Amino acid sequence: MEKIKMEAVAEIGAAQSENELVSVNKRYLDKDGTLGEFFKSLGSLSKEERGVAGVKANRIKQEILAVFEKKASELKEKNKNKRSDKDWLDVTLPGINPRVGHLHPLTLVERRIVEIFYGMGFEIIQSQEIENEWYNFDALNIPKDHPARDVFDTLFLKDGSPLRPHTSPGQVRYMENHQPPLRVIVPGRVFRRDAVDASHMPNFYQIEGLMVDKALSVANFKAVIDEFFKQFFCDSETELDVYGKNSAKATAEKDNIRLRPSFFPFTEPSFEVDLRCVHCAGKGCSACKGTGWMEVMGAGMVHPNVLKNAGVNPQFWQGFAFGIGMDRLAMIKYKVNDIRLFYENDQRFLEQF
Ligand code: DAH
Repeated sequence: MEKIKMEAVAEIGAAQSENELVSVNKRYLDKDGTLGEFFKSLGSLSKEERGVAGVKANRIKQEILAVFEKKASELKEKNKNKRSDKDWLDVTLPGINPRVGHLHPLTLVERRIVEIFYGMGFEIIQSQEIENEWYNFDALNIPKDHPARDVFDTLFLKDGSPLRPHTSPGQVRYMENHQPPLRVIVPGRVFRRDAVDASHMPNFYQIEGLMVDKALSVANFKAVIDEFFKQFFCDSETELDVYGKNSAKATAEKDNIRLRPSFFPFTEPSFEVDLRCVHCAGKGCSACKGTGWMEVMGAGMVHPNVLKNAGVNPQFWQGFAFGIGMDRLAMIKYKVNDIRLFYENDQRFLEQF
């Protein structure tokens, strides 16, 4: 029995985990365990021997149990410490600074443009990127044999649907469902069969604008667009704010936009809108090729045929429309000299915004 006790105590002492301890306990103290067998064997002894041996065996059982319980509570304590080691938190450690993402410069510009026009009462809609011949050309007064269909150099899907080369189809789609007076802008992605260079991408962004009302004139257009540029560039974080705090005085007396006659099938008259160069305030620099002006959008008074095609009676209503190249405005605002930078996703570039 002393031998059994020594073995049991040694095994209990060696147990590393509560599980191991339980199996040691079973092996010695269970009915079928070593001690259990011993008690059973007592039956073969004489009465006196049985009494003496039984008392001794019980004492040893109690001693083993005591060692077992001590070990069990030790292991429990150890485990408790182990768990809190793992969960322990050093609140004095410096935190991990999560890298916060930010918006792409084109998204920033789009949101700003939208915000400004929204402030002037324009509704903002999206129009589809996959168009059909009617909305893309016919409804916009572009006849079947008109060179404009080549000029746009449209990309077509296999089923013949054009990918919109401009946001102008959005005008017609909107007017079909809304009666004037109306003001709407249509920001979105457009596609052209253009070779990639510093100022061309086959995929870029425009914002279409349309206002239809009674007795609208080019003067209204000029007022709206002038206000737009004033707001768009006055909050510019760069030095190039013609309208901003730095140079407001210098240019307050001058016209900051000018209209040059142009041609678009969907407007009459049509014009290109130039913005006084925001880099040099009109003196002439490399950004404006020495002219003092930057071409920023096409515009005009909506052609009566376009109104008719969209279900608006041109006898009662007039409108102006314009198409702004969003990439171009972003390039001007952020002094970016290559449109490709917006699409290459080079982190060194994107992280600057
Ligand atoms: N859709 C023209 C383009 O992509 C831009 C444009 C010109 C839009 C005149 C207009 C407009 O709404 O009136 O070049």
